[in-house]
Amino acid sequence: MVKKVDDIQTSENSVVARRSPVHGTGVFAIKPIPKGARIIEYKGRRVLWSDHKEKKNGHTELFHISAKYVLDPSRDGNDARYINHSCAPNCETMQDGERVFVFALRNIKPGEELFYDYGLVLGRCFTREEALLHRCRCGSRNCRGTMLAVPPSRRAQVLRWAAET
Ligand SMILES: C[S@@+](CC[C@H](N)C(=O)[O-])C[C@H]1O[C@@H](n2cnc3c(N)ncnc32)[C@H](O)[C@@H]1O
Ligand SMILES: [Zn+2]
Repeated sequence: MVKKVDDIQTSENSVVARRSPVHGTGVFAIKPIPKGARIIEYKGRRVLWSDHKEKKNGHTELFHISAKYVLDPSRDGNDARYINHSCAPNCETMQDGERVFVFALRNIKPGEELFYDYGLVLGRCFTREEALLHRCRCGSRNCRGTMLAVPPSRRAQVLRWAAET
């Protein structure tokens, strides 16, 4: 059988989804993953952003690919949908057209959970409620308190909000 180039380069068999100490299900390395490796594609049906209202509980699986479209992993998705956020991530996502791939930012050992920085953008100046709705529980030393992208000028304010709750 002839493999597609994408199948050869993406090492999806180096990760597994299981319970995470950070949130629900997470994705973990089961083999050593070298820095720069393309680990998994974030798969999902391309759907209109306007058809998918934000959930009131802040839980999101949609991956923003443009002003108009998001990837919805509840349809045709894979385990990449379970990768949690961290403010000190070991992975990053990169977009190639309308496809999204997860890459290792550093060498990752078997057993380590995979994280990327969601850097969620609401398209408006976020409120306290919105920052806390997307409260981050990554536990890293430099946790910014929220999975939203926070400009440097608002970092202290958001950390205060997170510490109050
Ligand atoms: C794409 S899902 C990740 C998989 C999720 N753990 C699950 O079991 O479905 C994204 C959601 O997971 C939760 N999540 C991910 N990272 C988190 C973190 N660092 N702190 C708190 N919640 C997190 C949030 O509810 C977020 O909207
Ligand atoms: Zn954090």
